[in-house]
Amino acid sequence: MKYTKFIVVEGINGSGKSTICNYILKLLNKLHIYNVIKIHEPGSTPVAEKLRNIIKFSTGEIFSYKTELLLIYAARLQLLDNIIRPNINKNWILSDRYDLSTYAYQIGGRGLNKNHVIFLQKFINNNIRPNITIYLDVNPVIALQRIDSNLEDRIEKESINFFSKVRCFYIKMAKKDKTIKMVNANKNLKDVKFSVKNIINKLINI
Ligand SMILES: Nc1ncnc2c1ncn2[C@@H]1O[C@H](COP(=O)(O)OP(=O)(O)OP(=O)(O)O)[C@@H](O)[C@H]1O
Ligand SMILES: [Mg+2]
Repeated sequence: MKYTKFIVVEGINGSGKSTICNYILKLLNKLHIYNVIKIHEPGSTPVAEKLRNIIKFSTGEIFSYKTELLLIYAARLQLLDNIIRPNINKNWILSDRYDLSTYAYQIGGRGLNKNHVIFLQKFINNNIRPNITIYLDVNPVIALQRIDSNLEDRIEKESINFFSKVRCFYIKMAKKDKTIKMVNANKNLKDVKFSVKNIINKLINI
């Protein structure tokens, strides 16, 4: 019987995704689950990391929202073909962001047409779905206070209004999809970890 899971952690910048991914990896290891591949999006392959760098740090010219969308899908396809597809039946996969981010940021935040996003999703044959997505819901004012402003990338420099739109879209999607578990990430880290631990325990029937 297949006993691997695909877990995704989502949320706006500064919501605590990287912190919680590290925590989930520790939880799984404590349960003697060691075959876990931890990835982040966009990125996690040599080509996808180059694309991540372009997406996050390009300056000096207009960066079209559609260019951004296409680069994100190019990076995802590299990740799917090189890491996710070859491993999905053998190893657990723990991803910091996946395609819910594209819905929230590119449709909710940037205002791109949903049909274009769905078309690209089908085009890259993205039929691999996570078993569970943990969405860390946080007020953008709180989230952006957690980010070091000296290290901000192109996306993190966006306004509170932008992140509010992204958050609204995340919430809308979470309400429609039972595999998305919303966690109140305005709370302190101890409380957030407690909620996440319960979700992971339920996922593996503890
Ligand atoms: N619930 C929390 N309460 C307080 N601080 C938190 C909480 N969650 C995370 N942090 C802190 O906020 C900072 C940002 O967290 P983290 O890097 O995990 O967020 P992220 O969602 O991965 O951000 P990014 O989208 O920029 O990668 C870190 O210093 C982390 O320790
Ligand atoms: Mg992070």
